[in-house]
Amino acid sequence: MQTTLTDSAEEAANILNAGGVVAFPTETVYGLGAGICHPEAIKELFRAKGRPVDNPLIVHIHCIEQIADVAGDINKDASALIERFFPGPLTLVLKKNPCVPDTVTAGLDTVGVRCPANPVAHEFLAHCTCPVAAPSANLSGLPSATSWETVYEDLDGKIDCLLRGKPSSIGLESTIVDCSGAIPVLLRAGAITLEQLLAVIPKISVDTPKDDQEPPRSPGLKYPHYAPRASIVLCHANEKISAQHSSAYIGLSEPPAGFALLKICRNLEEYGRELFSFFRRCDSEGIDLIYCELPSNTGIGRAIRDRLLRASGRH
Ligand code: TXA
Ligand code: MG
Repeated sequence: MQTTLTDSAEEAANILNAGGVVAFPTETVYGLGAGICHPEAIKELFRAKGRPVDNPLIVHIHCIEQIADVAGDINKDASALIERFFPGPLTLVLKKNPCVPDTVTAGLDTVGVRCPANPVAHEFLAHCTCPVAAPSANLSGLPSATSWETVYEDLDGKIDCLLRGKPSSIGLESTIVDCSGAIPVLLRAGAITLEQLLAVIPKISVDTPKDDQEPPRSPGLKYPHYAPRASIVLCHANEKISAQHSSAYIGLSEPPAGFALLKICRNLEEYGRELFSFFRRCDSEGIDLIYCELPSNTGIGRAIRDRLLRASGRH
């Protein structure tokens, strides 16, 4: 299959409207979209990514009014979160409307809904004639793509179109909050922090992975994620570490000399933005071991910790 590369949101939307699978930029990570009214395209999307079919997709919309097309039963907490954080890096799990196909939600009676703030994403979605189901635009299991070049590496020849935009400004996938029950549940940490959520709603419970027998609240979280080929070694700010042959380091504090690749981030935002592209760079440069500093569990540090723990196989 020939993948069309374009800078035109309208051209990309036309390809999606004709039943194509289209990668597009968002502020969190790049997405791989198919219209929810195009069942063949949804199937093709799962195939292109190599994604298990029991892992539901997030539905992307271009304006708040469009929520009513895909979800219902929006309670007070959900309304407050929508008002404060849409458009932006937040996904809400809501009761789904019957028009959303089971292939999108993996048979669940809920649907994840997100309205991205990135202007190119907005323009693209506004030209799409139906809401757009989209997982992250990477091969299943690999770190999410935060630049169009990375999407190209993973998916050239497997998808119909790649809409090029800037590198993702956040670099970590959206915060996911399940608002389909009585008390909201934080399913995945992201750039909208727990502290920010609690400033808007009175109560939220945090979904922590429990024993293996219990099905996870968010089906995708049971799969290995974000893993580079290199092994991840987690370390703390003051821990004594020493560089080994073909090892790399990413973190906030300065490590000892000798790492083949090094990224010292000025703050947590930069750490989040750079993490996945650093993993990808390590793999392309033949690094075997990546030392990653574990930040504290506050603010966006919670999301970075979560991705690091998953990448190292600890979750
Ligand atoms: O930032 C993001 O969220 C990006 C951009 C493209 O929007 N998308 C993304 O999609 O990260 P994906 O498919 O890589 O991760 C979506 C996660 C999966 O873990 C999936 O299981 C969960 O959201 N999810 C989707 N629908 C759900 C639902 N109805 N209930 C619970 N979890 C759901
Ligand atoms: Mg993903």
